Amino acid sequence: MSKGSNRRPGFQTRAIHFGFDPADHQRAVTPPIYMTSTFAFESVEDAESVAEQAGATYAREHNPTTAILEARLAELEGGEACVALASGMAAVGTLLLSLLSQGDAVVVHATLYSNSFAMAHDGLPRFGIQVIPVDLADPANLDAVLDAMPDGRVKLVYFETPVNPTAQILDIAAIAARAHAAGARVVVDSTFASPAVQRPLEHGADIVLHSLTKYINGHGDMLGGALIADRETIARIRGTGLRYITGATLSPMAAFLVLRGLKTLKLRMDVHGANALAIARMLEAHPKLAWVRYPFLESDPGHAIARRQMSHGSAMMAFGLKAGFEGARRMMNGLAVIARAVSLGDAESLIMHPASLTYARRRTRPDAKLATGVSEDLVRLSVGLEDVADLLDDLETALGAV
Ligand SMILES: Cc1ncc(COP(=O)(O)O)c(C=O)c1O
Repeated sequence: MSKGSNRRPGFQTRAIHFGFDPADHQRAVTPPIYMTSTFAFESVEDAESVAEQAGATYAREHNPTTAILEARLAELEGGEACVALASGMAAVGTLLLSLLSQGDAVVVHATLYSNSFAMAHDGLPRFGIQVIPVDLADPANLDAVLDAMPDGRVKLVYFETPVNPTAQILDIAAIAARAHAAGARVVVDSTFASPAVQRPLEHGADIVLHSLTKYINGHGDMLGGALIADRETIARIRGTGLRYITGATLSPMAAFLVLRGLKTLKLRMDVHGANALAIARMLEAHPKLAWVRYPFLESDPGHAIARRQMSHGSAMMAFGLKAGFEGARRMMNGLAVIARAVSLGDAESLIMHPASLTYARRRTRPDAKLATGVSEDLVRLSVGLEDVADLLDDLETALGAV
């Protein structure tokens, strides 16, 4: 990336430049969007040689715009390779259906993002894959489970940190050490953090999963997912899971948007983190609050681990009011700046109440259930990039009316 210098560029420089040279793209400074579903070759032999190297013959598995994004994400996470997918859930499904087979087992943390929870508890068992929920808050809980299973049966240990929606922190290094001793690989869904503040591979994880929809794109205008790991694992996921199991390709337009979002990821995360800490401190001291979880509050049970494995906080927090379930609803209805919406990681502050949504969904989906560890009073807040004084005022006004 640099002429003559041996200096390794910093995160921000790599987030803007890595994997792209204008000389390869008609001197365009911004990566072009290759809107094509297939590629033409000079000769049959030429097509054969590209196919032999698992190269670009069809856009389900390869697109030049997406390839720039994949190279950049792998670099920023400190992995060898990356495959981008159509959504975070496409990444979850493609990963698990590529790496697990009938008779295998996977350990998951007791609390997961609601649709990953559904995949684990309702999806995988239908294919003869055993799912073992374990409270990984104490990594020692893994030992008994791994000891009780036949050698090699548990293929993966899968968790999020910070956890959605509780903002709980799990100790990547301690879990990875135990999983590796039993021959299992570790998958960390790092969506709540982004590589600007946490890089799980540096702490012993084997595979990192992202919903690109959230912080990495950061502008709430696309869906995407990514998996980052060693070359062999990514080749397997691309060549089986993406090619013929899910076919869940990221569109080149979405790849372009994520490349644009990545350029400001670190700048955004700095402001997200500072805004979130100010809000968490206000909430912690507020008389109407029963509890607050934000890893960068000194009082948070995950604080010491968070300081070890994250450079600073993202902007995800969870809290409960003394007025419980009804109080959460009343407070949310009093907000004017913070939007009542389910996503996270956007410039806009977004707030959601999982229990209200789950109970409403039961009318059409009777199997809808709150993930383990998610209490009825829990409110999840994704703090955005607005002026923090406006966000504090919005929350204080809404709390005052409860
Ligand atoms: C932690 C986590 N993982 C995965 C996903 C799924 O991502 P997507 O909505 O892009 O499918 C989400 C979505 O909220 C999430 O929060």
